[in-house]
Amino acid sequence: MSENRGEFATRAGFILAAAGSAIGLGNIWKFPYVAGQNGGGAFLVIYLALVFSIGLSVMLAEFAIGRAARRNPIGAFAKLKGGAWIGVDYMGVAAGFVILSFYAVVGGWTIAYTVHTLGALLETADPKVLGAFFGDFVADPKSSVLYHGLFMALTMAVVIGGVEKGIERASKILMPVLLVLLIALCLRAVTLPGAGAGLAFFLTPDFSKVGIETLHAALGQAFFSLSLGMGALLTYGSYLSRHVHLTSAALWVTGLDTLIALLAGFLILPAVFAFGFDPAAGPGLTFITLPAVFAQMPGGVLFGPLFFGLLSIAALTSAVSLLETVVAHFVDDRGMGRRAATAWAGVGIFALGIPSALSFGVLSGFTFAGRSFFDVMDYLASNIMLPLGGIAIALFAGWILLARITDEITAAGEHRFPLAVIWTWICRLVAPAAIAWILISGL
Ligand code: TRP
Repeated sequence: MSENRGEFATRAGFILAAAGSAIGLGNIWKFPYVAGQNGGGAFLVIYLALVFSIGLSVMLAEFAIGRAARRNPIGAFAKLKGGAWIGVDYMGVAAGFVILSFYAVVGGWTIAYTVHTLGALLETADPKVLGAFFGDFVADPKSSVLYHGLFMALTMAVVIGGVEKGIERASKILMPVLLVLLIALCLRAVTLPGAGAGLAFFLTPDFSKVGIETLHAALGQAFFSLSLGMGALLTYGSYLSRHVHLTSAALWVTGLDTLIALLAGFLILPAVFAFGFDPAAGPGLTFITLPAVFAQMPGGVLFGPLFFGLLSIAALTSAVSLLETVVAHFVDDRGMGRRAATAWAGVGIFALGIPSALSFGVLSGFTFAGRSFFDVMDYLASNIMLPLGGIAIALFAGWILLARITDEITAAGEHRFPLAVIWTWICRLVAPAAIAWILISGL
């Protein structure tokens, strides 16, 4: 097995691939609305603190465990420890299944908005019209299921056809274009009349609004955005050459992911206030706000479809990493063929996603403790399964195999690891205790 696994040739190639998994809808669609629902500035401070303490440490642990084992998550724990590790492996596969089911629904929205921004959508910046358009679009059962299916079909096609050939080469060019476009859009958004209130909302922490739910939301968002807790980055680490400096790779991926989320915040939230939308509008926030920005800027009819097209591709590269983790398990551990595994997993995920796709229309009355089916799937995977996976990964690196993992991080002494002591105690104590506390009190 080890001969034909292949390896990332360069550090830059690896960082781009891992960043491709991390950067997606989580940054541009989810981050602004979760920040908007949780009080803006105070959420931002807590999010950044969690990302650069717990998030970065768990990411480093995932990279190192993967590279030490050179296996997919389930195989990795089996190989390193001789058995499953408190269920983290199977939960990871389940989390991938659940996340992709609602992720593909939103991925479908990005494709649909690429089409609609080519049409008449950008003729108005009126919040009422744009809100109604989004509401009607997601409430229509035919189109929401259709676009969800289209996005899943594209994801399956990439997973069957191989990641490297088309999509990886394309995203190496397109993702920098997305970054530049995002910066340009931010400049437009922050100079809109009335944008200052949005900047204040995003940058002024009001800790009186912070409760345990804020912490819980920030923790779930950190794991979701960084692709942590289900072994996706562990799998990427398993393809990594021993000479690549793991700490700097983890810093790069975390930094890039955070940069894109912040840019999305500086784009969406000022525009929300400038146009009089509601920052707590939820999952539709980005989709109702951005068309207003495009409608108000020179060349918007060009930038609108370009932006949503690029966002679809960013979503696709993340979706591929989710499906790939599920498929790898069926291929490596159950002896299934790659095509069959992709077909079964893909169709199953599509089916589980249908109630999520219908959550904004025919099933909108169907809620559990105030959450729609879509929100339940997101909550279950992001706010429960991924943090639990993070606890298990941190404990594994900190207690079970500390010497081996530290050796892997320093490449047997080749690289310096000045923060080794801090990292060790974050894995051993701080991350498991903080996550457990947030989970238990947040439920
Ligand atoms: N991080 C991606 C995003 O922000 C989504 C994603 C891809 C993911 N792979 C993952 C989330 C693995 C959790 C686990 O859009």
